[in-house]
Amino acid sequence: MKDQRKMLLWLLFLAAIILRSDGDTSLRKKALELMKQAPLIDGHNDLPLKLRWRYQNKLSNINLMTLNVTATNIRKLKAGHVGVQFWSVYVLCKAQNKDAVRLTLEQIDVVKRMCGAYKEFEFVTSSQGIADMDSEKIACLMGIEGGHSIDSSLATLRMFYDLGVRYMTLTHNCNTPWAETSSKQVHHFYPFTRGLSSFGKEVVKEMNRLGMMIDLSHTSDRTARAALKLSKAPVIFSHSSAFSICNHSRNVPDDLLEDLKNNHGIIMVTFPTKFLACGNQTVNVSTVADHLDHIKKVAGPTSIGIGGDYDGENKFPVGLEDVSKYPALIEELLRRNWTEQELKAVLRDNFLRVFREVEKVRNESLSMNASEMEIAPEEVQHPCRLDLVRPLTQSIPSYGLPLRGQLSNIMAVAAMYVCLATLKLSQE
Ligand SMILES: *[C@@H]1O[C@H](CO)[C@@H](O)[C@H](O)[C@H]1NC(C)=O
Ligand SMILES: *[C@@H]1O[C@H](CO)[C@@H](O)[C@H](O)[C@H]1NC(C)=O
Ligand SMILES: *[C@@H]1O[C@H](CO)[C@@H](O)[C@H](O)[C@H]1NC(C)=O
Ligand SMILES: *[C@@H]1O[C@H](CO)[C@@H](O)[C@H](O)[C@H]1NC(C)=O
Ligand SMILES: *[C@@H]1O[C@H](CO)[C@@H](O)[C@H](O)[C@H]1NC(C)=O
Ligand SMILES: *[C@@H]1O[C@H](CO)[C@@H](O)[C@H](O)[C@H]1NC(C)=O
Ligand SMILES: *[C@@H]1O[C@H](CO)[C@@H](O)[C@H](O)[C@H]1NC(C)=O
Ligand SMILES: [Zn+2]
Repeated sequence: MKDQRKMLLWLLFLAAIILRSDGDTSLRKKALELMKQAPLIDGHNDLPLKLRWRYQNKLSNINLMTLNVTATNIRKLKAGHVGVQFWSVYVLCKAQNKDAVRLTLEQIDVVKRMCGAYKEFEFVTSSQGIADMDSEKIACLMGIEGGHSIDSSLATLRMFYDLGVRYMTLTHNCNTPWAETSSKQVHHFYPFTRGLSSFGKEVVKEMNRLGMMIDLSHTSDRTARAALKLSKAPVIFSHSSAFSICNHSRNVPDDLLEDLKNNHGIIMVTFPTKFLACGNQTVNVSTVADHLDHIKKVAGPTSIGIGGDYDGENKFPVGLEDVSKYPALIEELLRRNWTEQELKAVLRDNFLRVFREVEKVRNESLSMNASEMEIAPEEVQHPCRLDLVRPLTQSIPSYGLPLRGQLSNIMAVAAMYVCLATLKLSQE
């Protein structure tokens, strides 16, 4: 009798386990099915940065199908049902006023070569291009991370658009002469920038005119507020999470989430643990889901996307270690009763809506001319920038031609040393 009861308890216990795991596998199945119908559009991946650091952009030395020292490779992207990847063509803040433009061009080059070299990839630059994608392929798009990449030049911004860049994060972890970062880390760049300067506002208007998405991740709240007020098109946060859940300066506070909702833009929730949890609790799939639940409450399910930031940071949540793990998050959201329609919106539809809206604003701006505004030299104040408005020689008194030539050489060498000294200071 006693043994029978024991046996029955064991059976019940086993049944409970089987039923529970059955429930889990069916949720996982549902998540995978959903992602097959609506492959993920991910807002931010830093693989190109890893390609530079580890391999000096020498693609011939690696196989992207199986590369295993990164969180991203093609097999993992496919396992994660990633259909569209925005590759970040990021260069360090240290390159500001130095070789930022060249380095950004080199990152654009490596993305284009990478996406040309593998038949699994296809380079795309429009919402229609995404909609028309072969479902077996992964669309490659590019975003610039940090306004320092355009060296305060609208002409440079336009040429990046022509090369296929479709968003620009207004700042990285440093101020530019025209936009303020959220980073309170010590950096030596433009400590007096507040929000958007008048040139910064022109950058936003020009991005609207071009059809380049305005990305407000990394910017200060003041910058984000100014851009949200000014932009005629919806904006994105390509990789940020909720400040109410973890009060990191990289995250977005509720009042901005409400502004974002009114702008019809999206926040693409990001996964690095340091933005997800401010204490030292375990960080796992549930932590990410908490951020999504919160944003849904404040701004609604149509204001949300996903921007993993894989290969941009080191620590990721348990269960979301690399790009093959996205289905685990969808499974957790299904468990939390998110509807299929809400999840398809998060995975794909919300972003496509924003992209189309941005293109529509561009289409409506065709009669506008390119902005010819130049930044004021006193706003940049950098001795390495060649001043073509007041060329060096004009400030040198004319003592006769030969001497004048020599003096201008001496002045040029002196200017070079001032430039070098400034660069050295900005790197400390
Ligand atoms: C990673 O890839 C390298 C080179 O292809 C291979 O030698 C190594 O065994 C792999 N490591 C793991 C853990 O798969
Ligand atoms: C976050 O909260 C902690 C504890 O309340 C506080 O000490 C810290 O200054 C806050 N950080 C920010 C960026 O608001
Ligand atoms: C962090 O962990 C330590 C030791 O496990 C614990 O004593 C402390 O309360 C935790 N702090 C927070 C903020 O969770
Ligand atoms: C995440 O960690 C918390 C705390 O350890 C735990 O309660 C929760 O079940 C975990 N979630 C998942 C999906 O593993
Ligand atoms: C999800 O819905 C079910 C059925 O309505 C309910 O029992 C469960 O508590 C809900 N779960 C959450 C996390 O809201
Ligand atoms: C913008 O204009 C192009 C060219 O006429 C057209 O193909 C595209 O559908 C338009 N896009 C939107 C969103 O209106
Ligand atoms: C655009 O430029 C053209 C040619 O310079 C000029 O005729 C036209 O008035 C400009 N349009 C606007 C809206 O400024
Ligand atoms: Zn970033």
